[in-house]
Amino acid sequence: MINLDPVRLAVAAGMLLAYAAMCFALWRSSSKRCAPDEAADWLVVYASQTGTCEYLAGQTVATLRTGGLRARAASMDDIAEAQLRNANRILFIVSTYGEGDPPDSGARFAGMLGGLDASLGELHYAVLAMGDSSYVNFCGFGRYLDAALQARGAQPLFQRVEADRSAPAAIEAWQHHLSHLAGTSDAPDWSAPAYGEWRIGERALLNPGSAGAPVYRVTLRPAGALLPDWQAGDLVQISAPGDPAYPREYSIASLPADGQIELLVRLHVRDDGSHGVASGWLCLQAPEQDTIQMRVRQHSRFQQGGNAARPMILIGNGTGIAGLRAHLKHRIANGRRDNWLVFGERNAAHDHFCRDDIDAWQRDGALASLSLAFSRDGAEPRYVQHALSAQAEQVRQWVAQGAAIYVCGSLQGMAAGVHDALLAALGQQQLDQLDAEGRYRRDVY
Ligand SMILES: Cc1cc2nc3c(=O)[nH]c(=O)nc-3n(C[C@H](O)[C@H](O)[C@H](O)COP(=O)(O)O)c2cc1C
Repeated sequence: MINLDPVRLAVAAGMLLAYAAMCFALWRSSSKRCAPDEAADWLVVYASQTGTCEYLAGQTVATLRTGGLRARAASMDDIAEAQLRNANRILFIVSTYGEGDPPDSGARFAGMLGGLDASLGELHYAVLAMGDSSYVNFCGFGRYLDAALQARGAQPLFQRVEADRSAPAAIEAWQHHLSHLAGTSDAPDWSAPAYGEWRIGERALLNPGSAGAPVYRVTLRPAGALLPDWQAGDLVQISAPGDPAYPREYSIASLPADGQIELLVRLHVRDDGSHGVASGWLCLQAPEQDTIQMRVRQHSRFQQGGNAARPMILIGNGTGIAGLRAHLKHRIANGRRDNWLVFGERNAAHDHFCRDDIDAWQRDGALASLSLAFSRDGAEPRYVQHALSAQAEQVRQWVAQGAAIYVCGSLQGMAAGVHDALLAALGQQQLDQLDAEGRYRRDVY
């Protein structure tokens, strides 16, 4: 017969209860948090061109999760109509470009929302609109988004927050709202990677005699610290002394394997002959071996990502060759030769940036195709978009073989011209599809 000692029984029952309570607590805490791809109660939708809103979306998700909420970030590109109609809680973080337009990754969603003929009465949302008040349509897309959501019955959780040039006060206001939502004051640190001290190595004028403004190749190494990591497509932010504007961004033209950051900087020359503060300082005034404040900024929309395994058409003008050079160096180092470079500037004799690299790649068979468009060499101006139009059949073939298209360079003229040439070659549907698949990527400024 079993001896049922009441004291032992009570101890055993207590231990069982404690164990059950521990299991319940563990289950509760694990069910409250979620991995990025799992279902989430809070969706943080960002539309970002150069990564600011994407970065803030990541910080927003981290803050909500600190409070135990299930949250995940998604690019606006990836939000389907059904998802919007069924959503209960979305925080939008969006920038503005052009004439109050969305960034590329928000264009499809904006069109879809504009044509949406359904009630969004179940949706609770908030908008963080990033912009720059020196543009006429300050925060134009954030304002449009807010109005369009309200017009369809969606309910704002709190008033739209507008951040002028990433103004810290506005970001703090957004953080404050999040702390309320998440019920925590224990928010993570939102500061971007700190600026470090970098030393200028060489500065070489790349286009002596050019009809355009001088372009310099500037090399930089960390002063004392280790070289940080970055990927082809990433940018640096530079804060020049006495520059009242926010940090200037430049595409990185080199890879960590080069042991230094290389930039192509065009000297900004004003009508009265004076120089821009940042470019003047970087190209001319800062003494060589002087240190500058700089940090690397990830630019995930313009990295290789899944396109590393695809053929690639790389299109750019002027200093836009910088970002393309980093991509080509990376791809060629990884044995990919299915690269088609389309580059344009003014005169071949003066403006053939990165000519040594391009010649060597061509000699080694690392460029399957090369198209150069020097606009002032012929009787008629000829730009990269004309080179593309002339080879529309080749564009179609490359895309049919799975190619991705990367465009880097000036927003004015080049980006729209290239877009139109691609549209004519591929048609709206196919270009939209490439965009949706992340195979049409732009770093334009
Ligand atoms: C070429 C260009 C055009 C812009 N146009 C506008 C504009 O019309 N209205 C505005 O409020 N901000 C404008 N901005 C500022 C951006 O919206 C702002 O810098 C934003 O923080 C960028 O966020 P993102 O990095 O997530 O794209 C413009 C910026 C650039 C570079």
